[in-house]
Amino acid sequence: MRHLLSTQDLSRGDAIRILDTAEEMAAVGDREVKKLPALRGRTVVNLFFEDSTRTRISFEAAAKRLSADVINFAAKGSSVSKGESLKDTAQTLAAMGADAVVIRHWASGAPHRLASTDWIDAAVINAGDGTHEHPTQALLDAFTMRRHWSRLAGTGSQGADLSGMRVAIAGDVLHSRVARSNVWLLRTLGADVTLVAPPTLLPIGVEQWPCKVSYDMDRTLEQGVDAVMMLRVQGERMNASFFPSTREYSRRWGFDDNRLRSLDTLGMKDTIIMHPGPMNRGLEISSAAADSPRSTVLAQVRNGVSVRMAALYLLLSGDTREPAATPGAGHFAGAAPSTKESI
Ligand code: ASP
Ligand code: CP
Repeated sequence: MRHLLSTQDLSRGDAIRILDTAEEMAAVGDREVKKLPALRGRTVVNLFFEDSTRTRISFEAAAKRLSADVINFAAKGSSVSKGESLKDTAQTLAAMGADAVVIRHWASGAPHRLASTDWIDAAVINAGDGTHEHPTQALLDAFTMRRHWSRLAGTGSQGADLSGMRVAIAGDVLHSRVARSNVWLLRTLGADVTLVAPPTLLPIGVEQWPCKVSYDMDRTLEQGVDAVMMLRVQGERMNASFFPSTREYSRRWGFDDNRLRSLDTLGMKDTIIMHPGPMNRGLEISSAAADSPRSTVLAQVRNGVSVRMAALYLLLSGDTREPAATPGAGHFAGAAPSTKESI
């Protein structure tokens, strides 16, 4: 793997390898000294043309935990406002010695462009491009699900996939790069995915995606789900009205208090509620659902650091070994086993 641009072209082996490496990184995060010398002398540039809280900060934390140097670039306040192009911006940063460029851009395809030209000679990681993909988000989501289900099964998660798990991804699929990356990755890992959305918020051609589609949230829940992933209504990408009112939206497609109660009534005691953040509380998810013990919202953020450490490590260290068959015997043998009960 030279770049991480999409989950669509990620093989099952590569995906499992990233998740297994992330487990080892999580064990490092539980140590008193959370740092590894693995990327000492390497430079990671965070190139953000769109706003971010979680992704930018967790890539920074991940790179620092691996002892890399980090340069943070935000388009706001930079010479991009003077008209500087992506190419010139990237080359300027590369001239400062970037080994990896983590890029978030409003244009779908910008990371691919960076990776497919000779503008720079660095590993490129897609941190979200337009409405296209957000691969590290999908990986951290899969990591969170895998941990949860392994714990329920009382087995280790190393080497495991998500075979047979039922995942509903609900809401603004049309504008969501999180949904796209998740559909491909979850499918590769063997999960059974259903998209739930109003017809106006589903993309053209969705019937060709490797998943089912439903317009009915309650019916989908009644059929049984192991995880419900709520998507943010992306107002900033909407240039028209996609649903009659916010009230109507939250009643029909939001995860509200009634639906939270219905998980108990339906006997789904282990079903988790996910959200990539940032959340519109009261619109696609109620506060009771977001803050309930079923919610993995903060676990997802925590796991994001481990997954991004794994991605940076695998891309930059040149380590091509297969993951170890036994936990604790892999890249970071000696890492203390996780004692925290976390998903
Ligand atoms: N933070 C995620 C993204 O950048 C999801 C969202 O913004 O709704 O795609
Ligand atoms: N989930 C996510 O990508 O969050 P940010 O937009 O805050 O980075």
